[in-house]
Amino acid sequence: MRLTFTIQRFNPEVDSTSHPQEFRLDVGRGMTVLDALIRIKNECDGSLALRYSCRSAICGSCSMTINGSEKLACRTSLRKELDRHGHIVVAPLRNLPVIKDLVVDMAPFWEKIRDVQPWLSPGRPWREGRSVQMEARDHLHPEFNNVDACIMCGACVAACTVYEVSKGFAGPAALAKADRFLSDPREAPSATRARLSALQREDGIWDCTRCNFCVEVCPKDVKPMEAIIRLRRASLERGMATTGGARHILGFTELVEQQGRLNEAIMPLKVVGFAPRAVWRILPLGLKMFFKGKVPNPLGHAIPGLSHLQALIRRVRRATSPV
Ligand code: SF4
Ligand code: SF4
Ligand code: FES
Repeated sequence: MRLTFTIQRFNPEVDSTSHPQEFRLDVGRGMTVLDALIRIKNECDGSLALRYSCRSAICGSCSMTINGSEKLACRTSLRKELDRHGHIVVAPLRNLPVIKDLVVDMAPFWEKIRDVQPWLSPGRPWREGRSVQMEARDHLHPEFNNVDACIMCGACVAACTVYEVSKGFAGPAALAKADRFLSDPREAPSATRARLSALQREDGIWDCTRCNFCVEVCPKDVKPMEAIIRLRRASLERGMATTGGARHILGFTELVEQQGRLNEAIMPLKVVGFAPRAVWRILPLGLKMFFKGKVPNPLGHAIPGLSHLQALIRRVRRATSPV
């Protein structure tokens, strides 16, 4: 079968912007997108730049945008892409600077990983005769298995809606890495606290909008968003509740527990607090909402059956509280 491939090209030495280029290639059964790209490079245009190594979904280097989604080219079937989209369009990863064609600069990605200090700060005495593997098997929570499976492909960062607009954001891969060390019982409690404390900063865990794209694109089922939620929960359990994000969650829960629903008149105050400067900052929005009839009665009234809801909340709390 003869197929047309559209590949986004960019050569910094001659191009000011990237542009699509079409290639025609005879393809066989069972081929992956990476197989096709290697043949295009060998048979059509040797100047095509792409990165790959293991060809087995292990090294993470062939991550790119295929038909609009972040994927590993070595494990993406041409046939399936064609059946689903009717065409093959390949571009570099988004959100990372393009070096040439399909090769992106991973330096910003590694910078974020380094920022979360991806190493253990052991705080427990080592038991005689125990290997690292034995300790890990005994102590690591099952949730770690997936976080440890990260191959640093960068797909989650390329898909992240927050990173797209805010390059300071720690990003899903780095935060998943932080979660792996945070929950490791071999780490000193003081180090755990320091880790969490560092993540309260602007661009840290509370900036994630929970869009779930990082979970959708991750080829290793790491589920970075769930790791971020664990980090948030751990922060709240340690009383770290000074950020707007933390206050939003606590205020939301409190209101629902008291009234059975959200009260939009009170909620902004729960987030920004009662400091005059903060109230002054949200006042124009509050007034605008008031004159448009969007501010509900701040005293509100509880929904019928509130006691059932409160019983449910208490039960969930008991079930999820740390032992
Ligand atoms: S869930 Fe959070 S970290 Fe993941 S892609 Fe969305 S904003 Fe980024
Ligand atoms: S979390 Fe998943 S998508 Fe992100 S870098 Fe690791 S393996 Fe790739
Ligand atoms: S070439 Fe290694 S993951 Fe695709």
